[in-house]
Amino acid sequence: MIETNGTDGANAQFGPGRLDPNGRVIMLSGANRGIGAAIARRLVDAGYRLSLGARSPAGIERNNDDNCLCQAFDALDPESPQAWADATVAKFGRIDGLVNNAGVAAAFGFDDGDEADLDRMLEVNLKAPYRLIRAALPHLRAAGTGRIVNITSLAGMRYKRGSAGYAMSKFAAMGLNSAARSSLWDDGIRVTAVAPGPVNTDMMPQSDAWTRDDVTQPETIADIVALVLAMPNNASVAAIPINAVFEPLP
Ligand SMILES: NC(=O)c1ccc[n+]([C@@H]2O[C@H](COP(=O)([O-])OP(=O)(O)OC[C@H]3O[C@@H](n4cnc5c(N)ncnc54)[C@H](OP(=O)(O)O)[C@@H]3O)[C@@H](O)[C@H]2O)c1
Repeated sequence: MIETNGTDGANAQFGPGRLDPNGRVIMLSGANRGIGAAIARRLVDAGYRLSLGARSPAGIERNNDDNCLCQAFDALDPESPQAWADATVAKFGRIDGLVNNAGVAAAFGFDDGDEADLDRMLEVNLKAPYRLIRAALPHLRAAGTGRIVNITSLAGMRYKRGSAGYAMSKFAAMGLNSAARSSLWDDGIRVTAVAPGPVNTDMMPQSDAWTRDDVTQPETIADIVALVLAMPNNASVAAIPINAVFEPLP
């Protein structure tokens, strides 16, 4: 287990007792834009080694170097998660964390909706994260302090409005989060759902209730992910719902 002793960069950011980022390898999906690009920047600053997955790795801000692998990952291809995990281990020899960030949102309601859109949301928002967990699992177990962060959504914790299909996929992703958290606990793997409301990215839902300045910024989500990754095994957080505008939550 890699733990800080109160003198290094991780402690400077979060205080004593946190896991040391140095040497740890994190896989991050959807690293080319939006929340994923912000998480990548934040984790580079923290000192992690990164395996960044994107459909077009050329679009990732980082280049391949000793501390970074930019790898093709398509959540709609069932073979892609294993290939990406294998490439990560081939380069770094280990996987310490997985951030399931890539996601899609499409209109899908009860009076309309193309089931192809529902299938796509279930593939990208649920099944690909499941497949990535499976692919990374032997290495997360070997780490002793493996971390999985699932970027879900408030839409997966309560249904207010918007796409019913997106909500269904994100409620399912919360189920994945709970199942993984329980099943993998004894292996030292800690699993957390980070569940934002509206975030200032291309995916932000339009509303008269907020502007791009009002909603949560991707850099703030990235700070929260960095904090979760650094938590020790005895301080696991199951889910972090994030409100940009007030609402009562269950
Ligand atoms: N923005 C919000 O208001 C909000 C709120 C709650 C939760 N979230 C969640 O936050 C996560 C990140 O979303 P975002 O706001 O950053 O959205 P975004 O700016 O639209 O970015 C979505 C990311 O997912 C990737 N992606 C989509 N389909 C993919 C596929 N088939 N294979 C691999 N990657 C794929 C995209 O890659 P390409 O560039 O190749 O399309 C992109 O990197 C998602 O899980 C989303 O559901 C967002």
